[in-house]
Order: sequence, then C-alpha cells, then structure tokens
Amino acid sequence: MFARRISVIGTGYVGLTTGACLASLGHLVTCGDIDAEKVERLRRGEVDILEPGLAELVGEGIAAGRLNFVVGAANAVQGPDGDAEVVFLCVPTPMGVGGVADLSAVRAVAREISSLLAPGCVVVNKSTVPVGTTRHTSELLGRDDVAVVSNPEFLREGSAVQDFLNPDRIVVGCEQQDAAERVAALYSRLGASTVLTDSASAEMVKYAANCFLAMKLSYVNSLAELCERLGADIGDVTEGMGYDRRIGQSFLSPGPGWGGSCLPKDTEAMLQVSDSADFEFRLLRATIDTNTRQRQRMVDKVRVAVTGSRTGSLSGRRIGVLGLTFKAGTDDIRDSPSIAVAALLRQAGAELAAYDPSVPTGSTHGGLAGIDVVDSAVAAAKGAEALVILTEWPEFRLLDWSALAEATSRAIVIDTRNLLDPDVLRRAGFTCYSLGRR
Ligand code: UDX
Repeated sequence: MFARRISVIGTGYVGLTTGACLASLGHLVTCGDIDAEKVERLRRGEVDILEPGLAELVGEGIAAGRLNFVVGAANAVQGPDGDAEVVFLCVPTPMGVGGVADLSAVRAVAREISSLLAPGCVVVNKSTVPVGTTRHTSELLGRDDVAVVSNPEFLREGSAVQDFLNPDRIVVGCEQQDAAERVAALYSRLGASTVLTDSASAEMVKYAANCFLAMKLSYVNSLAELCERLGADIGDVTEGMGYDRRIGQSFLSPGPGWGGSCLPKDTEAMLQVSDSADFEFRLLRATIDTNTRQRQRMVDKVRVAVTGSRTGSLSGRRIGVLGLTFKAGTDDIRDSPSIAVAALLRQAGAELAAYDPSVPTGSTHGGLAGIDVVDSAVAAAKGAEALVILTEWPEFRLLDWSALAEATSRAIVIDTRNLLDPDVLRRAGFTCYSLGRR
C-alpha cells in the first residue's frame, strides 16, 4: 500500500476518527479545523469526544509523526508534509430550515481551498450530503484537474474507531473511475467489501441505509405496541425474527424512539429530496410519524402507571428519569429521544429529576432547562412517584434497586428500553412497566 499525504478538514467525530484511523493505516495525515483552541488541544493529544480508542489513536499518530493538526482548511491542504494528494471534507451538514441539509460549511471550505489544491488531487466528501452535492462541489471548486469523490461514513457514535477499522463495506462514488480507485486503495489494508459506483449512488447509499435502519426501529416499536395488545412478548418475537439471516438480530430493540445526530437528520433530508423529485415516499413518512408518536406513547405509559388512567394529570407529580443521552456509551444529547420524552413529561406538568452517567450535574443546555440534572440515580429517585428508564446504560442494571425503591415515594419503574429484568425489579419491590411484554 502507498502511504498518501492526506488532509482532513473538520475534526468532529467523523473527521477526527477518519484522520486518526487513516494515520494508523500508515498515511500522513494533516487535520484542519477553524477552532484554534481545539487544534491546540488536539496537538497536545487531548480529545474532547467520548469515543473509545480515539484518544489512544490520536496519541499514537502524533508520536509516530503521521498525524498533525493545523488551523484552517488552507493550511491543511498545504500540510507540513507537502500538498495533500487526497482531501477529506468532514465538516458538519446540520439540518437547516424545513429539514434541508445546510451545506454552508461545505461551500465555505470548497471556496477556501479551490485555488490551493495541487493538480491531480482528489477531494473526498465524507459528510452526509444530499444526493448531487458531490457533483455540485466539483462545480464550486471549478477545477478540471481535481476529482471529487463521495465516500460516505457509516460510523456509529461510541464505536466509531471500531467501525472505521472493521467496516462492513467501503462505498466510493465518482464519475472518474481512477479517482474512485485511488480513494478505495487508501483502505486496502482493511480488506473490506468495496462498492465502486457513481457519486449520486454513493451518496444515496448513506441515506438508504440510515432510513432503512430508522424504518426497522419504527417497525419494531410498532410491533412492541401490538405485542402489548395481543399478549405476546417482543423480546421473543424479535429473537425469532432475527434468526432469519435476511433480517438479522441487530437493531431490533424497542425504545422511546430513535434519535441522535444522524437518523432524524437523514430521514428528514431524504424526505425533502423525495419531495423535490416529486416522489411521495410514504413508507419513510410513516417511519418518521411513528417515531414522533412513540415519544408521546412513552408519556402515556408514564401517565397510566402514575395516575392509573389514560387521562390522569401529571401536574406536580415528581418523576425520576434515568438516562438522557440518545443512546448508551455516548455523552451526546443531540436529538435525544430521552430528552424529547422528558420534555413532553415536563409539558404535562411533571417535576423531573434526571440522572445520566455522562451528563454533568446541573446541565441546562440542549433541552435540559427545567429538568433538575442530579449526580446519582438515588438522587433522581428521591421522593419520586415513578422512575423512567430512557437510555439503556448497562450500569443501570447494577444499581441497588432495593435502595432505589426505598428512596422513591411510590416504587414504580417504566423501563422504555426493556433494559432490566422485570423479576429483579419486582423482587426489589417495584411495580414494573416495559415495552411489548406480557
Ligand atoms: C447511526 C448509524 O447507525 C450509523 O451507521 C451512521 O453513520 C450514523 O447514524 P448513531 O447515530 O451513532 O449511528 O446511532 P445508532 O447506534 O445507529 O442508534 C440510533 C438510534 O436508534 C438511537 O437513538 C438508539 O438508541 C436507537 N436504537 C438503536 C434503538 O432504539 N434500538 C436499537 O435496537 C438500536
């Protein structure tokens, strides 16, 4: 494998993981970010994202002289090792007005680097961007001698390094086959299945995969509701389904709805793209609507558990919340279904004390205003009429549930992740509600 001179623009979780992992594969990587203080911290090997293995890889890359950090995109493409041969764009593409992806960061970088790129260099779009953006980026760059390639990432937060180094597949899309092959070759040591295609198809793979995953979860959440009505058990049902190799066991756990920084954004963007192509993607619309409804359904469950009635009032009722992040193993609360459910409980008048292992006590940002974020599960349980588990932190299983039952004013648990064994809870004195169980 040839070691390439690579520049990575943007050091968020995708960019930093990409840079550190490519350096670990032997490439010479310069990462650029507009945040000078962050660059300074990264130079000292300080990583402020909770991502297992990432800080170690960054440290190793710096020590081996294969990983550098500079301020700004321009400095990154003209790195200390010489002009970049491959430039990865890993800048944020947040959801803008009406669910349309906001491409201003991609545009700004394209403008900044267009005249600085070495002839024959390849620009790689790694951010999730609407279908057609790779071609559009090529127009923005206005360089006939620079190919633009789509190479979507499939990294899950909390296992991004593991996912990068053990990918299910590498997808590379470009109208120029040789440029696509050069990008694919960067990953050759990983031995992964590789799909070489045109840029629009590569961009579509990312949306198609994330929308399918969202659909799988909305389907499971609906099944769980039906199981409750029919007296079936969702755990047994999904296990039985999952042995079918065409379905698989993963991504079949019911919950308070799916969230995070990708699935909500990507499903909305796909819907927008469908609308603009005059295509009514009903299945996707139903997937999103089902997810919105799921959050309300969790509130209804709490209402019935606490008041004994579908119409009872939660006003002034004290409820303990366990888990705020959008899933376990991350400190990310962006678009967290747990916070969305907590916010709906607040709207219904409940008083909330919440504990999450990765959310600092007293936090008020990101939708937490009005929720008392405390430093332990016992503090969240104190005087509560019910405890609601909203994020599936494994350590919640190890809590002293008898002590929690004593701390509450009424020992009720609503487990929206089916995390705990109901028998354990019952032995600790709790009345237990969960999803899709008999
Ligand atoms: C996702 C995709 O998995 C990844 O391939 C893509 O690159 C980015 O988006 P991520 O956002 O890190 O990754 O989260 P993921 O682990 O996929 O979970 C998404 C949401 O679904 C979370 O809210 C999670 O709690 C929920 N979920 C997941 C379930 O409710 N049940 C499951 O069985 C799995």
